[in-house]
Formats: sequence, C-alpha cells, structure tokens
Amino acid sequence: MTDVQLIAGNWKMNGLNSAIAELDAMIAAPTSPAAGLLVCPPATLLAAFAERAKGSAVGIGAQDCHWEVSGAHTGDLSAEMLADAGATHIIVGHSERRADHGETDAIVRRKAEAVARAGLTAILCIGETLEQRDAGQTLEVIARQLEGSVPAIDRLVIAYEPVWAIGTGRTPTVEQVAEVHAAIAARMGGVQILYGGSVKPSNAAELLAVPHVGGALVGGASLKAADFLGIAAATALAGAQTAGAS
Ligand code: 13P
Repeated sequence: MTDVQLIAGNWKMNGLNSAIAELDAMIAAPTSPAAGLLVCPPATLLAAFAERAKGSAVGIGAQDCHWEVSGAHTGDLSAEMLADAGATHIIVGHSERRADHGETDAIVRRKAEAVARAGLTAILCIGETLEQRDAGQTLEVIARQLEGSVPAIDRLVIAYEPVWAIGTGRTPTVEQVAEVHAAIAARMGGVQILYGGSVKPSNAAELLAVPHVGGALVGGASLKAADFLGIAAATALAGAQTAGAS
C-alpha cells in the first residue's frame, strides 16, 4: 500500500460555478506530502475544475459513469468522456447510486471495468446498512459486495462507507473501522482502502490512523476548503500517531 493517503472529496449534487473559489483555496494551500488531494465535483464543473487544477497537487475526479464507451444513453456519461474532460478517478458504486438508481454489484463491476478501460482509477464504494450491521451481517455483506462488484483491474481504490455513517454525523468506532478494513485488506491484498462517512477535521486524525485506512472519502466536509484541508492536514498527524504508537 502507498504511504500517501488519498483525501478524496465527493461533492455529490452540490456546487455552482462560484464554487471554483473553494477549489482555488485548495490549490493555493500548502499540501502535506502525506496526502494526495482529489476533488470530485458534479459533472457540470468537471472540465472547468480540471483546467483550473492543471499542474497543481489537486486531482479532479468524477462521481459515476456509464459502462459503455458511447451510444444511445440519454443523460449518461462514459468513462472516456470523463477522462477527456480531465478526470483521473471515477467513483463507482456509491451507496446513493446503489439506492437511488438501483445499481447492483454486477452494474458496479461493469462501471469499474469501464473506468479501467479509459485508463483511470476507480474508487469503488462498499458498505453495510444499519439494519445489516445490527443483524451482525457486516463482514458478510462486505465480502459479497467485493465478490460481486470488484473486477480484476490494476488501478483500483476501495472505499468503505457504512451507509448509516453517511451524512449523519455518526461514525463507527475505530475498532469497527479496523475490523472491516482488515477484512477488506485480507481479501484484496495491497489495495488502497479509504474510509468514508461523516469524516471531518475533528475526527480525521483518529480515523486515518486506523490500520489499513489509506485515506478518506469525504462528502459534506469536502465542500469548504478549510474543512477539506483540515482533514488533509490530519494525515500527517495520523502518521505521527502511528509512529508514536510503534
Ligand atoms: P459525508 O462525509 O457527508 O458523510 O458523506 C460521505 C460520502 O458519502 C462520501 O462519498
């Protein structure tokens, strides 16, 4: 696993042209060598953000793609189009897409394959619902999602996002994060694994210090440069904590 933690911001359906000021602040900030920054704005802003971020330490990604290269799919965007617009990464299988658009593991797998075909890195999301966690099914659900949705591709990042922690302000305990990340690492050997769900500057250092946590996928707190940079700054602290513990 790489030592550089990936701090990825998923802007979801947020952001107008005026939000480029937040990107500018992220670009202008000194970056920790322990963190790689990625911003995934809505598709409407992707090309403008990629142009603005060119040559900076901030990468630009997309939030979803269709699995085909082109064709009669009104409203959809292919991985090739997103690459053409300047994306380096594409999030696939986010739980909001699984829930809102009925995306199955099989569909997520095809999307991840499409990302690889376009030469980009897939950030593939998995995670259990609260009902599944309460029923003691978390590791089983994770294993099923990995089995069903992860293709054999080179450039892959997994994001563990417990559905009940997304946008709720609730985070799992470090023990719960450690258990799931260890299970994913055991199956996926060597793959970078992000944690996502209510990550903010105040909890980032402890979450990023958990073994097998290779970064964070951040929703709400990625919209404001100050919060996003606060999370990125925690990578260095996480490293110091880990070093201090050893
Ligand atoms: P929040 O950080 O807003 O909980 O969202 C997490 C998420 O879904 C990132 O993909």
